[in-house]
Amino acid sequence: MIIDLDGRSYVDPVSGKNYVVRHMTLQDVDQVVELEKRLFTPPWSRASFLAELDERPYSLSLVAMDEQTLIGYMVVYFIFEEAHLANLAVAPEYQHRGLGEHLLRLLFRMARETHCQTLLLEVRRSNAKAIRLYEKMGFAHTGVRRKYYEDGEDALLMCKTLVEEKN
Ligand SMILES: CC(C)(COP(=O)(O)OP(=O)(O)OC[C@H]1O[C@@H](n2cnc3c(N)ncnc32)[C@H](O)[C@@H]1OP(=O)(O)O)[C@@H](O)C(=O)NCCC(=O)NCCS
Repeated sequence: MIIDLDGRSYVDPVSGKNYVVRHMTLQDVDQVVELEKRLFTPPWSRASFLAELDERPYSLSLVAMDEQTLIGYMVVYFIFEEAHLANLAVAPEYQHRGLGEHLLRLLFRMARETHCQTLLLEVRRSNAKAIRLYEKMGFAHTGVRRKYYEDGEDALLMCKTLVEEKN
């Protein structure tokens, strides 16, 4: 899925550098898989990311780049009036500088542009950082998926409704 991303760059408040957010390409997948392995247990496989790019017309995959270095990514499924955040990651050395928030604001804008009203996501119950981010960005807790992950951990289901919101 391709969306116009003109002007969707991000200025790092620490370095003042301009980071570009753009569509993920096949050339990015090595770096994406590398970062995924650093951040998630178990990680999504290379095949999963390739499938996002090749086989799933409802899937949008974006990367954030510091020049040639991948510093974050996001995978979203747009299914009728719902957008499902399937993956969100920021490289550890770039975390807590606002990039996660920037990517979510971008998601909100894209969802509005594609007439999605509801944003959904699952997050591990133990992932305090991510839960704080989602709460800050207006997601509400709407349920629990028991033993959702392979290791038996529960997922918290979070939801945000976009209607008549301004941010
Ligand atoms: C969750 C994640 C995407 C957040 O990205 P980020 O760029 O660090 O987030 P931001 O800098 O935009 O922070 C926004 C908010 O998130 C929360 N947050 C981010 N880092 C945090 C930290 N180290 N400790 C506590 N809260 C934190 C805070 O609420 C923060 O707002 P604040 O700065 O006003 O306190 C990032 O930590 C990450 O990639 N984690 C590993 C992968 C992951 O868990 N992905 C989510 C899967 S559901």
